[in-house]
Amino acid sequence: MKIFIPGDAGAVAVGADKVASELAAELARRGTQAEVVRTGSRGMFWLEPLVEIESEGRRIGFGPVTPGDVPAIAGAIVDGAGHPLALGPVEELPFLKAQTRLTFARCGITDPQSLADYRAHGGLKGLERAIGMTGAEIVEEVTASGLRGRGGAGFPTGIKWKTVLETVADAKYIVCNADEGDSGTFADRMIMEGDPFVLIEGMAIAGIAVGASYGYIYIRSEYPHAIKAMQRAIEAARSEGILGPRVGGSAHAFDMEVRVGAGAYVCGEETSLLESIEGKRGFVRAKPPLPAHKGLFGRPTVINNVLSLAAVPFILSEGGQTYADFGMGRSRGTMPIQLAGNIKHGGLFETPFGLTLGELVQDIGGGTASGRPVRAVQVGGPLGAYFPPSMFDLPFDYEAFAAADGLIGHAGIVVFDDTVDMAEMARFAMEFCEAESCGKCTPCRLGSTRGKEVIEKILAGDRVEAHIELLEDLCNTMRLGSLCALGGFTPYPVRSALRHFPEDFRARAVAAAE
Ligand SMILES: Cc1cc2nc3c(=O)[nH]c(=O)nc-3n(C[C@H](O)[C@H](O)[C@H](O)COP(=O)(O)O)c2cc1C
Ligand code: SF4
Repeated sequence: MKIFIPGDAGAVAVGADKVASELAAELARRGTQAEVVRTGSRGMFWLEPLVEIESEGRRIGFGPVTPGDVPAIAGAIVDGAGHPLALGPVEELPFLKAQTRLTFARCGITDPQSLADYRAHGGLKGLERAIGMTGAEIVEEVTASGLRGRGGAGFPTGIKWKTVLETVADAKYIVCNADEGDSGTFADRMIMEGDPFVLIEGMAIAGIAVGASYGYIYIRSEYPHAIKAMQRAIEAARSEGILGPRVGGSAHAFDMEVRVGAGAYVCGEETSLLESIEGKRGFVRAKPPLPAHKGLFGRPTVINNVLSLAAVPFILSEGGQTYADFGMGRSRGTMPIQLAGNIKHGGLFETPFGLTLGELVQDIGGGTASGRPVRAVQVGGPLGAYFPPSMFDLPFDYEAFAAADGLIGHAGIVVFDDTVDMAEMARFAMEFCEAESCGKCTPCRLGSTRGKEVIEKILAGDRVEAHIELLEDLCNTMRLGSLCALGGFTPYPVRSALRHFPEDFRARAVAAAE
């Protein structure tokens, strides 16, 4: 008998290790030998720890399982009897069934540490095809897919790779941005813990495409499980010849290592990330030169988010056009959307671009966990805009969000119920920028401090209208005058809070007058 239980940090945090060991022991006590496979997570966090039993080619789920449930569940498994936590075939659960999993195709299904399992589930096909292609042909395939950077800026990946391919240098690098600093995001972590070989394959393809023979994965220190999973997978890939002087038996050399960040939001910004890998303080570099021309150690560098690189093996194995067939407008392919905050069904939902915000939050996410009405959602991390339910017909699409003064970012959606104070959230946006600013430019370094002070005056009911005007002016200065998006985008949450929830600011004037 085979039993699958996630070893993902999210599942482990709610007791998956204990459930796994106790279930194996309980089944053995009942005379049933079971092989327990620790997988990645399926991304249905409200069901974790999710236990899956293989039966007649299908996986039958139980969840969320606590150690106290183990004896009864073991009994149900052995006798084939029912149990209140039985979920039926996992693939039939509406949250999973409604998804199109291209990037997360194997996550929650395979043993993430087994290269054989990876290969048995379609892994390495993209790399094998790339080995027989020229760099320009690979870049052309990625361009045809319409893939845009999943780290935040949505820049076309094919154009970035083409620039590095065409830049002549004695060395080039592939850097994977796994800093994943945005609030409410966890997709990078889930890939690294649940299907690390897909990232290694994507980076190796990128290396072959642009002529780079070394890569770095920059992982935030708060992700110890992901760091370990990637290090083990890199070693396994190296020992099987997927990495090393002859990638997959080809004439291409490519190897990589993990670098651990020290914990700064700004180290997710690509140029300060490069500074950090070089052993310096996370400090934003002025552009130009672009990292594609002069990046890590002064060499041409592809820097991509985990999800961008993890999408590449599918694009190479199935063809760029197949990927591009999904999506809407200029947002092609699928996006692993992360539902978080005060939400009933939080988790990872991979879907083609185009679903509306309302469908994602209300239908798929099931509304708030508190059961109270949704009042606001923040999309795209701490620099993303807040949207009220009146804007829930907004389709998940880069251009549609930009036209609504928002951004998709890394596709994290954080939900708030009607107890949220949006003036307080605006203050927090400025405070976050103040704490995380690298300090290089004045609009961000000083603007965030002054912005926080101005909002505090509004909160105290002090000349509210005049201070709102001053805040708008300050937001303009930060937006136009900041060197990077930390200072430049902090106005998004502040202004969207002001625009969509003005009553939370003006209530202070009324309260002060009374
Ligand atoms: C303050 C700040 C933080 C960022 N944090 C991240 C991050 O955690 N992960 C990420 O992939 N990109 C982050 N970015 C975006 C990167 O600068 C860069 O655009 C991205 O790594 C490029 O990869 P992509 O084209 O695949 O998205 C951040 C940008 C800024 C301005
Ligand atoms: S905007 Fe902020 S984080 Fe970015 S360079 Fe300026 S001071 Fe540094």
